Amino acid sequence: MISDRALLDLALQARLQAYAPYSEFRVGAALLAQSGRVYTGCNVENAAYPAAICAERVALGKAVSEGERQFVAMAVAGGKTQAEPFVPPCGVCRQVLAEFCTPDFLVITARSATDWQTLSLGELLAHSFGPA
Ligand code: THU
Repeated sequence: MISDRALLDLALQARLQAYAPYSEFRVGAALLAQSGRVYTGCNVENAAYPAAICAERVALGKAVSEGERQFVAMAVAGGKTQAEPFVPPCGVCRQVLAEFCTPDFLVITARSATDWQTLSLGELLAHSFGPA
């Protein structure tokens, strides 16, 4: 299995593909499936602003469309500049992750390649409404 640091590097790489001309807030995500494969995503904005899709859901959609249903962890990195904030998944992404991921699923949220924190989905979305 891939290390947290390596998963984060893939999220930082995916961020380079972000399409964010409206917010200029570029986000990359890398999602590790139970199979060992990694699926990346970036945010994809739209002139009709609410049609934007977050990096996390792009990665998850790619994975599910390839037949994946079980996941281990996701790294997320984003921001406008090099002095980055931690970017935990938004509420909609947390809910979408909870459809497929158990509370011990790990979210690695990073400010840089060397500064990150790890939270579980259970911490990010307590008392969630899910398939169960
Ligand atoms: N965004 C993400 O891609 N992931 C998050 O977790 C938070 C927000 C995107 C959506 C939008 O394109 C931009 O960041 C600003 O909200």
